Amino acid sequence: MKSVVYSRTGEPSVLRLVDRDIAEPAPGEVRVRIVVSGVNPTDWKSRLGSGDGAAPPFPEVTPNQDGAGVVDAVGKGVKDLAVGDRVWVYLAGHQRPTGTAQEYTNLPATRVVRLPGGTSFDIGASLGVPAMTAHRALTVSEDGPERLHPGALTGKVVLVAGGAGAVGHAAIQLARWAGATVITTISGPAKAALATAAGAHHVINYRDEDAAAAISRLAPDGVDLVVEVAISANAQLNFDVVRPRASVAIYADDGGGEFTLAVRQNMIKNVRYQFVLLYTVGDAALTAAVEDVTLALADGALPVGEDAGLPLHRYPLADTADAHQAVQDGAVGKVLIDLPLG
Ligand SMILES: NC(=O)c1ccc[n+]([C@@H]2O[C@H](COP(=O)([O-])OP(=O)(O)OC[C@H]3O[C@@H](n4cnc5c(N)ncnc54)[C@H](OP(=O)(O)O)[C@@H]3O)[C@@H](O)[C@H]2O)c1
Repeated sequence: MKSVVYSRTGEPSVLRLVDRDIAEPAPGEVRVRIVVSGVNPTDWKSRLGSGDGAAPPFPEVTPNQDGAGVVDAVGKGVKDLAVGDRVWVYLAGHQRPTGTAQEYTNLPATRVVRLPGGTSFDIGASLGVPAMTAHRALTVSEDGPERLHPGALTGKVVLVAGGAGAVGHAAIQLARWAGATVITTISGPAKAALATAAGAHHVINYRDEDAAAAISRLAPDGVDLVVEVAISANAQLNFDVVRPRASVAIYADDGGGEFTLAVRQNMIKNVRYQFVLLYTVGDAALTAAVEDVTLALADGALPVGEDAGLPLHRYPLADTADAHQAVQDGAVGKVLIDLPLG
């Protein structure tokens, strides 16, 4: 099979297209013929490592956590999946060397999820990191639901920072599907159009407007939950707009790795700050995300593509380095790698 690998960390040029044997799935594992591999910032950050050519955690690593394809073989003990099932996968390369930038990949059956009928491989390859992170962020608030379904967030106001980003897009879609009023911030008109297409009710250009004043006008009683990508830039904004007992779910440090909080003011509002990292959320949160995302998919609530607010950028497997560079350079939308069947 064709596989993309790296044996030292660094720029995209460390990625090599090679031929590798197709491995048999171990007990409890499933082998998936990958059709579309999804690229996320975590994939280039892992590949880059410290950037100095150091050894990765395994002698050879195939990048990319997300993907979609068809079950090709099942290991002993796997009961819920069968050869031929159309599936999406998550955390494919977490604590193992074999991600989705290759034609076949083996992974624990728990990380392989059947796609509801009619759901495309493009959608499937866009779910793992973005949608599961968004699900976690939307389910950690004190007065909010632990699970998402239509109506779960009815009456709640959710602020999604960066609604044209991949996680922001998924957060808007899931929050909207669950019944929330969704406000999002973006940096320009093109991203405003994307966030609106994703389903945001209100879009604020944080560069041109006084975002706190605009959000407070839209939500005079305050925001219930913030899904935050850039906490160091937005800590004050979030504090200004949240209502008492609101939660701020922080999933990234884009724009700066530290922030300060005014203790007394946050205490008075009983604000909750919840950090989110998909790799360590634990099995219960992963299972909840899988189940709720599956429901949302069945409702057609998670479309991708420019019309749905997430433009797709496609690359062949041989150009995985370019795909990684595009994500590293801040591509707007979703970067996908095609590994067509047959
Ligand atoms: N914790 C986790 O488990 C987890 C999971 C997924 C992703 N992440 C991390 O989350 C980050 C985003 O991932 P992604 O795939 O969504 O990337 P993306 O598609 O590049 O989106 C990032 C978005 O953040 C926006 N942004 C940056 N600064 C902002 C600010 N001050 N206010 C509002 N929006 C701002 C950007 O838009 P503008 O620059 O135009 O504002 C952009 O739309 C990455 O650092 C990634 O590694 C973490």
